[in-house]
Amino acid sequence: FCLIFIFLCSFYVESKWTRKHKIYRDVQKISTKEKKNVLFIVADDLRTSLHCYGDQIVKSPNIDQLASKSAVFQNAFAQQAVCAPSRTSFLTSRRPDTTKLYDFGSYWRVHAGNYSTLPQYFKENGYITMSVGKVFHPGISSNHTDDYPYSWSIPPYHPSAEKYENAKTCRGSDGKLHANLVCPVAVSQVPEGTLPDIQSTEEAIWLLKAAKEKGSPFFLAVGYHKPHIPLRYPQEFLKLYPLEEVTLAPDPEIPEGLPAVAYNPWTDIRKREDVKALNISFPYGPIPKDFQLLIRQSYFAAVSYLDSQVGQLLDNLDKLGLAKNTVVVFTSDHGWSLGEHGEWAKYSNFDVATGVPLMFYVPNITAPFPQPGKRTFPFIDPFDHVPGKIPPGKGLVSSIVVELVDLFPTIAELAGLNVPPPCPKTSFDIQLCTEGISIVDLFNASSDVEAIAYSQYPRPADHPQWNSDLPHLRDIRIMGYSIRSCDYRYTVWVEFNPLNYTANFLNVYAGELYLLETDPNQDNNLYNHTEFVNLIKEFL
Ligand SMILES: *[C@@H]1O[C@H](CO)[C@@H](O)[C@H](O)[C@H]1NC(C)=O
Ligand SMILES: *[C@@H]1O[C@H](CO)[C@@H](O)[C@H](O)[C@H]1NC(C)=O
Ligand SMILES: *[C@@H]1O[C@H](CO)[C@@H](O)[C@H](O)[C@H]1NC(C)=O
Ligand SMILES: *[C@@H]1O[C@H](CO)[C@@H](O)[C@H](O)[C@H]1NC(C)=O
Ligand SMILES: *[C@@H]1O[C@H](CO)[C@@H](O)[C@H](O)[C@H]1NC(C)=O
Ligand SMILES: *[C@@H]1O[C@H](CO)[C@@H](O)[C@H](O)[C@H]1NC(C)=O
Ligand SMILES: *[C@@H]1O[C@H](CO)[C@@H](O)[C@H](O)[C@H]1NC(C)=O
Repeated sequence: FCLIFIFLCSFYVESKWTRKHKIYRDVQKISTKEKKNVLFIVADDLRTSLHCYGDQIVKSPNIDQLASKSAVFQNAFAQQAVCAPSRTSFLTSRRPDTTKLYDFGSYWRVHAGNYSTLPQYFKENGYITMSVGKVFHPGISSNHTDDYPYSWSIPPYHPSAEKYENAKTCRGSDGKLHANLVCPVAVSQVPEGTLPDIQSTEEAIWLLKAAKEKGSPFFLAVGYHKPHIPLRYPQEFLKLYPLEEVTLAPDPEIPEGLPAVAYNPWTDIRKREDVKALNISFPYGPIPKDFQLLIRQSYFAAVSYLDSQVGQLLDNLDKLGLAKNTVVVFTSDHGWSLGEHGEWAKYSNFDVATGVPLMFYVPNITAPFPQPGKRTFPFIDPFDHVPGKIPPGKGLVSSIVVELVDLFPTIAELAGLNVPPPCPKTSFDIQLCTEGISIVDLFNASSDVEAIAYSQYPRPADHPQWNSDLPHLRDIRIMGYSIRSCDYRYTVWVEFNPLNYTANFLNVYAGELYLLETDPNQDNNLYNHTEFVNLIKEFL
């Protein structure tokens, strides 16, 4: 109770969008003498459904192995739970209210400010910077070039098989090909006989070899497409998840106290042929339970497929002798709701949508230096793997709340570059600064570190409609600002003006308060609860 009081106060009165950490510096300073390489792996729409995050169903042995040698952050959150805004935010280390990019329709350099990016910073510090797959969100949000040449030394690589992702390549029960949501495929039978993430792994391995030969430090970003929809993956991964072992979300119903404005009506999955055929009513559904199980099964299978790609990549990094001087970062742009609160997809402020895996492997810091003749990241075949063989949390594990805006300063510090300065209050004219902090000191920090993460999500109206999931900037009328501490999530949905980007905290459409100790899934909204209501009113 006391903690809530303090945080609400600091949220509204003291420092709306700046974060206060009480950091107890109990970790030795990481050696910054030698420039380290960076392998930055970003998955698409991957929530924390990984064995190393305590998931009992998902098989992710290669990411678990990475986690066992990394600093793992169990409470890491994206700033906005949708691809382009989140990626632009963490790659520039600025919050969506600074990038002013809440949709997919603009390029921050012309729309907001000419902000430097994480790869650009490495490029300007003598690194070869390379992009494979989906790192920046493609299209206008990165000027149709993935921000090349500012961010990258060579033109970004995109897998040629990507163009078939939304084509009719999924074999339906009628024997015909469809553009389905659930899409296990025989890889030899799809166009080009391969899948985008397989191609990205091949390209990334080739670039690692080339960069090693060149001898200069490198920053290689590899953006995998899975488990983003369609859930299109090699069909053998289904064998890891017999349908009888797949369960529904723990809370598949829409909670009574969920404000209509907070609900995302999952319009994107409704467009897929297999979902369309179910005639699900808009906006609340529900999806039939047997189909819910199929979606969950295929999401998990797509995660295991992703895990195998990460495993191949790390296996090769290791074989090339690069595990001794390369920092490996693994994360995702945001999470995905798999039926929790009756919701699917991202597009919300709940933990399932904003929460991401986040881990940093730093040789000689999070794991001992690789020993001669010993492998650091041998590929683990998920079909041979005995679950639980790699104990979760053998590396450093931190439950401190951190944010994706922290990535930029953290990776800079780990590689041995200067940490960019903190952004001042108004920073539109400043090219290089961070709205996050370096979390290197939190790798091993004591549990008395207090921290909060901010996320936000826009809506066009206070009830779900066709464009509620992803409104265009001009249609935004409401912004849901959300804070997540170690013990609660608090969200207010307030009036927002898209012409001057201004939120009016005096006009509140709805609020949400969830206490995580008794309600970790965030189903029991206490916003109107008498014991909190007066307290909250004081700050509005
Ligand atoms: C983390 O803390 C443990 C236990 O206090 C200590 O043994 C270890 O050396 C610390 N690691 C780092 C990187 O500071
Ligand atoms: C924006 O930043 C880039 C890279 O730092 C620089 O080359 C360019 O000149 C800048 N553009 C403007 C208009 O300031
Ligand atoms: C965006 O791309 C166009 C076309 O390639 C180019 O002319 C323009 O200068 C780019 N914008 C910026 C800010 O670099
Ligand atoms: C909270 O109270 C407001 C105003 O009385 C009401 O409109 C809203 O439906 C209530 N919300 C919940 C979750 O009970
Ligand atoms: C969905 O609606 C179509 C057309 O109204 C109908 O032909 C089809 O049988 C319905 N499917 C289901 C699963 O109810
Ligand atoms: C590895 O870490 C140890 C302390 O844990 C330090 O004494 C040593 O200098 C480090 N080696 C290198 C090459 O940084
Ligand atoms: C933004 O526009 C609204 C509506 O015109 C106005 O009420 C508000 O004062 C403006 N805010 C700022 C900061 O200019």
